[in-house]
Amino acid sequence: LATVADRKASRSWAVTVGLILLACALIAGIGLPLALELRSSNLLEARLRVVKKILSKTPLIDGHNNFAWNLRKQRGSARLHDFPFDVDLSKNASWGPSWQTDLIRLERGIVGAQFWSAYVPCEAQFLDAVKLTLEQIDVVRRLAAKYAGRMRLVASSSELEQAHRDGVIASLVGIEGGHSIGASMAVLRSFHHLGARYMTLTHKCNTPW
Ligand SMILES: *[C@@H]1O[C@H](CO)[C@@H](O)[C@H](O)[C@H]1NC(C)=O
Repeated sequence: LATVADRKASRSWAVTVGLILLACALIAGIGLPLALELRSSNLLEARLRVVKKILSKTPLIDGHNNFAWNLRKQRGSARLHDFPFDVDLSKNASWGPSWQTDLIRLERGIVGAQFWSAYVPCEAQFLDAVKLTLEQIDVVRRLAAKYAGRMRLVASSSELEQAHRDGVIASLVGIEGGHSIGASMAVLRSFHHLGARYMTLTHKCNTPW
């Protein structure tokens, strides 16, 4: 009799231990990853809050964007009036994932200032490089004018900071490549008058100067 009772007791112990092990396995297998997941999404949100706080005080400056040239390539002209710059173009199949710039995504990414490149190919040197550069600058200036409530053309760091405080994207012009000035200081000065605030020395070609 004693042996049968002992056997029953040890069986119920075995069941209890088995249940405890199962509970542990469930906690480790499901509970822990879930808790970690919650923690990491909280972490992500906390990080985003920090990023937003930093970028609200300090403008993030993107030094190079080929929008103007891409517009020309995509449309065959610098036509802007029916260009849907204020919708998320990544969601529109006719623009596709390779089209990277629109106002929605610039704002979502908290871009404080954008240097818009006036890029023309090296092949245009000694031909129509100056004209093409002027046309790129024209696109940038018209874009800023069209979305005046959300973008502003600026020409100095203090104007840039003021635009950022006003909650609009500061827009600047950068000339991409020294071939754009046609070896003329007058053209360089004129680009500066039009708002250009940097010029890279070259893209991939030698210049006479
Ligand atoms: C997608 O873009 C094209 C070209 O700009 C435009 O004609 C069309 O209406 C857009 N589609 C949607 C759903 O917005």
